[in-house]
Amino acid sequence: SLVPVILCGGSGTRLWPLSRETYPKQFLALAGEHTMLQDTALRLHGLPDSVALDASPIVVCNAEHRFLAAGQLAGVGIAHARIVLEPAGRNTAPALTLAALQACEGGADPILLAMPADHVITDRPALHAAVVQAHAVASQGAMVTFGIVADRPETGYGYIQRGDAHLHGSDRIASFAEKPDATTAQRYLDSGEYLWNSGLFMVRASVWLKALASCRPDILQACQQAMQQAVRDLDFIRPDAASFAACPSDSIDYAVMERLPVRADLGIPACVLPLQAGWSDLGAWDALWDVSARDANNNATMGDAVLHDCTDSLLMANSRLVAGVGLHNIVVIETPDAVLVADKSQTQSVKHIVAQLKAQG
Ligand code: GDD
Ligand code: MG
Repeated sequence: SLVPVILCGGSGTRLWPLSRETYPKQFLALAGEHTMLQDTALRLHGLPDSVALDASPIVVCNAEHRFLAAGQLAGVGIAHARIVLEPAGRNTAPALTLAALQACEGGADPILLAMPADHVITDRPALHAAVVQAHAVASQGAMVTFGIVADRPETGYGYIQRGDAHLHGSDRIASFAEKPDATTAQRYLDSGEYLWNSGLFMVRASVWLKALASCRPDILQACQQAMQQAVRDLDFIRPDAASFAACPSDSIDYAVMERLPVRADLGIPACVLPLQAGWSDLGAWDALWDVSARDANNNATMGDAVLHDCTDSLLMANSRLVAGVGLHNIVVIETPDAVLVADKSQTQSVKHIVAQLKAQG
């Protein structure tokens, strides 16, 4: 069977001031009526029966957000989620490991589809087609990624170099480079050999655990200990806090994906399937502008906003009227207690504001 694993423990700092520690972006409805978590959970509905989708997704989030997560899932009719609560974030490798250990309860060994909760995917049938293919590849013991055609030297993504053809339309990954610097990203783009890593992964639970046992035994051990002593109440699964606190922090990409292609000895093929499904990572405000409906001058507005002589801008009003005159390529995000005004080409740097505010206490 296929068990969706929704990773929604990130903090989304680049979408400040809307995304906050107590209410990060995955719990917001940024691009439609549903929140990003809800969209993610609904994304697999209608998948062909051949992949035997498990009706109980595993959701891994911060303990602080348990009622937000449970409430939002119930709100879209998902009543049987297994919600794993992290006492503190340790990045995606430990999060997927907790999920894999949970999935193996009772001797099962399902295929997992790790899904970040911070994406927009507009073409659901195309996603489903890719998932069906990936399922066939992962069933043969591979670690499968989904690659996006790169169109700019983005430094916030992983880059997948395509190698020889593998099974079912997939290619072997020749090399994987997470978040390269700008020069390297440009070189990858120019070479035409690289796809962006979408952040979705498909792998059998035991294959992930085996990969981690070789690449990062320290992470595996901490997660095993945390799950052995986990406390279960209602839908919530609480790994032991002290054991999980001792777990090193690392992402799936650095901990495993960069290593698998060069570790043929493990016998775990790392593969990539192309994904053309209207994917975008709503990482920063420019990405939201990109996926939003826009007027004739390429402006996107949300809430009570009026414009005169503006182009290529994003104005979001949440609690007051916001007016813009003569703005070009500007982002204005108004919330009750904070307003962001930024150059749209520098919205990645909003995280520095959040860091400054944190440092100031
Ligand atoms: N449970 C849990 N715990 N979830 C987490 C944690 C954590 O500690 N940290 C991050 N997440 C969740 C985020 O909420 C998000 O949905 C997902 O995991 C991915 O984390 P990001 O922090 O957004 O990763 P990224 O965007 O920098 O990079 C990843 O995604 C890119 C595409 O969007 C990588 O996989 C890149 O290679 C990839 O290109
Ligand atoms: Mg992301």
